[in-house]
Amino acid sequence: MEYKKLLNETRIPQLGLGVWQMSDEEAIESVEEALKIGYRLIDTAAGYRNEAAVGEGVRRSGIEREDIWIATKVRNSNQGYRETFQAFEASLKELQMDYVDLYMVHWPVKATVKETWRAIEEIYQKGLAKSIGVCNFHAHHLEELMETAKILPMINQVELHPLLSQVDLTEYFESKGIVIEAYSPLGNGQILQNESIEKIAQKYQKTVAQIILRWEIQRGIVTIPKSVHKERIIQNFEVFDFTLSDEDMFALSALNQNQRVGTDPEHFEEIFAKKK
Ligand SMILES: NC(=O)c1ccc[n+]([C@@H]2O[C@H](COP(=O)([O-])OP(=O)(O)OC[C@H]3O[C@@H](n4cnc5c(N)ncnc54)[C@H](OP(=O)(O)O)[C@@H]3O)[C@@H](O)[C@H]2O)c1
Repeated sequence: MEYKKLLNETRIPQLGLGVWQMSDEEAIESVEEALKIGYRLIDTAAGYRNEAAVGEGVRRSGIEREDIWIATKVRNSNQGYRETFQAFEASLKELQMDYVDLYMVHWPVKATVKETWRAIEEIYQKGLAKSIGVCNFHAHHLEELMETAKILPMINQVELHPLLSQVDLTEYFESKGIVIEAYSPLGNGQILQNESIEKIAQKYQKTVAQIILRWEIQRGIVTIPKSVHKERIIQNFEVFDFTLSDEDMFALSALNQNQRVGTDPEHFEEIFAKKK
């Protein structure tokens, strides 16, 4: 495992398991498997409705709680100062845990994000979240937050994969000491047929997924691929025994098309409102 040091000097594993779109049964089994394989970071969210299953998977694994990073997020409809404390309490109750390792703002909801962050700062100061962060932030979201924030987010979790390499965003946040975490690091499974990556994969005798994850890790990014299949959970973990050449790193970064598989943080409020 490789680690990234955060602004508060704690070290986060660079590879974790994402659990979005997992049923309870899948989450219990996948979390238990992943932890037994060696994963030490699990990324959930109140909005994924599987925090209780994540907690169950952790307990079934038999791995000590303090050896695992549990990350969760406050959902948009629960944002606000008082609301965030309530949401946090509810997450702890679901997880059956007395702290989390990383608590994050799920989306930068304009009307409430500053008050949400004020609550998250207090949760951090009380030691109930060991680290705190944001998701889906662009530079202007951070600038707006910092008009009132006392503590810089330690992590920004954003969509990132070879078709959305996020080079400028990464440079901006890293210049402030904020670690970038890649969500949908495999493009939600939609970019695994890419012929250019396939060619690189053949050269290293690795899979397309492994090449993508290795590219993210070598860029100094934390990555959280999701899978409910044991053989893929194992495969995605086997990315620490090879190194991509500078040339191949460059070739992978050159695949960027600014193409998202998820929602654009510039327009999420309109998009989510329409889906309701
Ligand atoms: N903060 C946010 O707003 C946000 C948004 C989206 C995601 N996330 C986080 O990021 C995590 C990962 O993103 P994601 O779930 O969107 O997608 P992803 O990890 O990019 O891709 C997952 C998909 O790829 C498949 N897959 C995984 N490993 C594979 C392999 N080795 N070979 C072939 N197929 C493979 C999975 O299928 P199977 O499961 O069937 O194996 C699944 O369909 C989420 O689970 C969540 O924790 C956060």
